[in-house]
Order: sequence, then C-alpha cells, then structure tokens
Amino acid sequence: MGMTVVGVGGWPVTVEAFVGRGLPSLIVTGLPGATVQDARERIRPAVEHAGLEWPLRRVVVNLAPGNLRKDGAGLDLPIAVGVLAATGQVPSNRLAGVVLAGELSLRGEVLSTPGILSMVIAAVRARYRTVVVPEANAVEAAQVGGIDVVPVATLERAVAYLRGTWEPPEVGPATTDGWRAPDVDLADVRGQVQARRALEVAAAGGHNLLLVGSPGAGKTMLARRLPSILPSLTRDEALEASQLHSIVGLLAGSGLLHARPFRSPHHTISTAGLLGGGSTLLRPGEASLAHRGVLFLDELTEFRRDAIEALRQPLEDGAVVVARAGGSVTFPARFTLIAAANPCPCGFRGDLVRTCTCRDDHLGRYRAKLSGPLLDRIDLRLSIPRLTKHELLGANDGEASAAVRARVVAARERQLERYADIGITCNAHLPGPIVRRHAGLNGAAERYLGRAVDTVALSGRGFDRVLRVARTVADLAGCNRVDVDHVREALSYREALDEIGRVQSAS
Ligand SMILES: Nc1ncnc2c1ncn2[C@@H]1O[C@H](COP(=O)(O)OP(=O)(O)OP(=O)(O)O)[C@@H](O)[C@H]1O
Ligand SMILES: [Mg+2]
Ligand SMILES: [Zn+2]
Repeated sequence: MGMTVVGVGGWPVTVEAFVGRGLPSLIVTGLPGATVQDARERIRPAVEHAGLEWPLRRVVVNLAPGNLRKDGAGLDLPIAVGVLAATGQVPSNRLAGVVLAGELSLRGEVLSTPGILSMVIAAVRARYRTVVVPEANAVEAAQVGGIDVVPVATLERAVAYLRGTWEPPEVGPATTDGWRAPDVDLADVRGQVQARRALEVAAAGGHNLLLVGSPGAGKTMLARRLPSILPSLTRDEALEASQLHSIVGLLAGSGLLHARPFRSPHHTISTAGLLGGGSTLLRPGEASLAHRGVLFLDELTEFRRDAIEALRQPLEDGAVVVARAGGSVTFPARFTLIAAANPCPCGFRGDLVRTCTCRDDHLGRYRAKLSGPLLDRIDLRLSIPRLTKHELLGANDGEASAAVRARVVAARERQLERYADIGITCNAHLPGPIVRRHAGLNGAAERYLGRAVDTVALSGRGFDRVLRVARTVADLAGCNRVDVDHVREALSYREALDEIGRVQSAS
C-alpha cells in the first residue's frame, strides 16, 4: 500500500503489480501523474542496485482507486516493493497492514520525501499498523503516534525488513513539543510604546496589523517580534502547520514545528508563490506556510498588486483554493498578517526631522497602492514615529516578550471560552453580522462610539473593525464589558489612515 497527497490530505493507494508475457517494460495504469510516470525510469535501476532481480518481462502496475490522480515520488517505494512481491522476492503476506512511502534514487537509496506527515496521519486514520518511511523523515513520521514507524535508508533495507531478516531501530524520541522562545525579544525595542501595544493587541485578538513609518523607525524590528508574544501552538495546530511544511519538504530531519511559523516573503514573490500552485505537484504558498502563525509583508507597497489582492481569500476564509487540471485543492491559510510600509515614496512624510520631497502625483499613486481590499481587512493601522534622541540614548526599559505573552495568553483564553459555541478562536475572526452581539459594549461605550461614527465618518466595515478591536482591548484588561477607554483605544488604531491619505479614511 502506498500514499498520495492531495492538498494536505494523504490518500491510500493500492499498488497491484502483474508480471506477464511480453517485451521487458513497465507500464503504470490508474491515473498516474507526471511524477509517478517518472518513477518508471527510477525503479528498475534502484531494484537492480539493491541486488534484486528485475523481471525481464512485461510488468504492469495498477494504482487504485482509479479515479484518484496520484502524484508524488513517494510512490516509488511501494511500486518497487509491489513488483518484488509479484516476483516472489518479498513475501506478500508481510505487506498486510503496511504502508510504504519514499522516493528512490537510481542507486536504491530511499530519499527524503515531501508530505510524509500527511501520509502517516492518513495511514493511522485508515488503521494501518506499520509505515515504512525514509530514514530522513522518521522523526517527522513518529510524531503522529498510533503506528509503528520503520525508517529505511535503502530499498535493500526495506526488503530485509519485509523478509524479516532485519530488525528496524527505534525512532529517536519525539523532539520537544510546545513553545520555544524565539531568539528575538520585545525587550530589544526602545520606546515605541504605542506600536508595542498594538503588537500586543494584534497578538491577543488575532488582528492584522499595518505599521507605517519612516525608514529606521523600527517597523521590521517590531514585526519580527510578533511570534515571541503569541500563544504556543496546540498539538492539533502544530500538526496542521507541520503538514504544510512537510509538503514542501521543510520538515525533513525534524519533528513538528515548535514555534508559530513566521514567514516574510520578499516583495518580488509571484502570486503562485504567495498563494500556492505549481504545474504538476501543487505546493502550498507562503500564506499557507504561515498557517497558525504570522505572514509578514515588509515594504507592502512594493508587492505585486495581483499578489496582494489574491490575499483577500485567505484573509476571509482562512484557506486558499488552488485550481488545477481536474479539480481544485484547498490549503489551509489562517494567519495573522503584519504589513509595513513607508508613508510616502521618499519615506519621510510626517517625519519630525526630515522633510518629505515627494511630488503630489507620486504621493497620490503611492497612496492608492495602499488602499483597497487588503487594507479593508487590516483591523489595526498605526503610524510610528522615529525614535527621539532621548529614546535612543536612554535606558532600555522595554517590557520583555514573556510578560506581554502572559497577558496575550490570558486574553486568548477568554475568547476561546466566549466563542466555544460558534467555533472561532479570536475576536479578529468574528463575522460582521454577529460582531455586535458579542462585543458587549456598556451604555457609555455605546454612546461614545455613536458620537465617533459621526465625527470620524466610520463606515459599516470600519465600525465592525472598531468593535472587534475594542473587544480585544477589553479582553486584555480582563473585562467582560467593553468600556469607553477600550473604544477610545480601538479608535486610535485608525490613525495611519490619516497619514496615508484620504482614500481610506472613510473605510
Ligand atoms: N525602537 C527601536 N529600538 C531599538 N532599535 C531600533 C528601534 N528602531 C530601530 N532600531 C534600530 O534600527 C534598525 C533599523 O530598524 P528597522 O529595520 O526595524 O526599521 P524599519 O522601520 O523597518 O525601516 P525601513 O523602512 O528602512 O525598512 C534596527 O535594526 C535597530 O537596530
Ligand atoms: Mg524595514
Ligand atoms: Zn515623501
């Protein structure tokens, strides 16, 4: 039995080999994708290199179920073993309850293979007892539990195991699960009190955040510290996120992800790179690799417009649908977006020291880039000033990540409890229609917000955003009801808009 991966899910594939009359050849039937067709060239040399015999007859390998397209080099090993079983070189009865997965080299090595985690999860679900995997992916495979993992470095070893002449070693201990402190800390950040607070609110409520400020203000520095204050991955989240990393081959040699992923793609990235895609094998994009973590778009205005616009779907649905011939595939992509940008092309608009040298038309074009559908989905928008001399030279009195993180964790727990019935985990994911029901404003806060609607011309969407953020501010304070102060703080995170321009100020 083999496995193929579709999207993030593993699917069992039955490999049946027939050796019959005819000229020596290997034919694979049952909807093999291009990667599986390639296997035909690898398998015979691999078998011969392992000191085994390739039948000099016509070999037909059928992959079932026939309606499922099979892709991935992981089918090399089960196909080779299927042929060896059909020629009596491997005892067929030993194959019952066993799943095999692994790419073969021409020399019969079993190579590190993408997607092993998804395959093992599917194997456990389908109640297989044993899974034979590449040695390089053994630790990854062992994280799932509930199935025996047999690590093999060569086809020869796999055959020896099935013949009962080789006893596989125990796979090393599960590497520590849970939160590990990232190597950067908020304590490194001087001043920037408001930006630090916005980072905390973003972490606590899962809100997307835009930082606007002049060069060197510390935008990149702040953004990189967001993971250090996020709650640790639950085991289920770690499994989900790790599967996506496994599919692109980023997990080999290690166990599950420890810390929440932090992805910061370069602004030259293509839409496919950001969202996922590919011609033969579909790969998840950066948005999915950031699943359960942070997607950081530094220099937001430099990104391709179509790539940015394509992010709307994951921001709304928490998933990406990638189309391909014969259907589409869904990759999870639930992340917190943090974006950074300069206020204008020269970077110094609104700066306390330097003056902006931008021409009006350039400024207009630049600001137009920052408007639009993506910005609409960013709850927190903040302009950050450059540090004053006093702040730069003064004592480093910034609070450390661990202390901030403790407040974030407490606020998240309040949200989990409140939303247990509606299946969301944080305020940022509150659907528009029910945000009011859960916000819990007291009378004074209602009146305050009512006045704000008029003075700052809040739109319906903007109104919902303020409610969500105010709810998070209240959760951080441990309050059941949202008070005036919470609303006031939430309203302050619309400030960057005025800096960036009028285009968004009405949204
Ligand atoms: N608040 C701060 N506390 C301590 N160091 C800072 C702070 N802000 C900036 N720095 C220092 O300045 C460097 C540049 O900061 P950073 O790269 O975060 O700026 P930026 O706002 O992203 O600028 P750019 O717009 O050019 O990308 C940092 O590596 C850090 O050494
Ligand atoms: Mg920067
Ligand atoms: Zn400028």
